[in-house]
Amino acid sequence: MKYNDKTWPVVLGISGASGAIYGREIFDRLLGAGVPLHVVITPTGKGILKAELGLETEYFHKPGVVVHDNSRYDSPIASGSFPTSGMVVAPCSMGCLARIAAGASTDLLERAADVHIKERRPLVLVPRETPLSDIHLENMLRLSRAGVVILPAMPGFTHSPGTFDDLAAFIAGRVLDQLKIPQDFAPRYGGG
Ligand SMILES: Cc1cc2nc3c(=O)[nH]c(=O)nc-3n(C[C@H](O)[C@H](O)[C@H](O)COP(=O)(O)O)c2cc1C
Repeated sequence: MKYNDKTWPVVLGISGASGAIYGREIFDRLLGAGVPLHVVITPTGKGILKAELGLETEYFHKPGVVVHDNSRYDSPIASGSFPTSGMVVAPCSMGCLARIAAGASTDLLERAADVHIKERRPLVLVPRETPLSDIHLENMLRLSRAGVVILPAMPGFTHSPGTFDDLAAFIAGRVLDQLKIPQDFAPRYGGG
């Protein structure tokens, strides 16, 4: 199944939380759906990709993908004038989420998220932390009230996942659903 809108890309941010597999799976699935991608990864995100998956940033350098330097603001995704169909941050650390919630962007990833909020475009955050403090929960509520989708890295188990990849695909499927990108790889309750 291929995504029809070839014009407007999706921005994928990978921040410094455990669960790099979610970022990689969402990247692979968006690319597989034919979606043009702009990718931005924080320094801690890069370290976790390497530690958890053995992946270097080079993995993301593929046709149809623009990989940005997170320390530079002179990038198109830092501006609302650059059209996108949405953004996802996966995994999203509590620090990254807090800075987005405060509107206090300190790097390109956070600025791009800020732009998606101000432009009223889809922004999906996939936070990973446990347990959650009052501050984490209040930040998430604040973002949700601003129209941001909080889609925690909480895969379901009713479809009897057998591998980590099955769990990551569950979350990737829910993310593509939120971005209204057709997908049929993730299980749906009742098989529909
Ligand atoms: C190995 C490692 C794992 C981490 N895992 C998490 C995590 O699961 N959730 C979280 O909120 N922060 C986690 N952190 C802390 C964040 O990376 C840090 O507080 C900060 O938000 C990093 O900024 P960034 O997310 O913009 O890269 C982790 C840090 C390291 C070094």
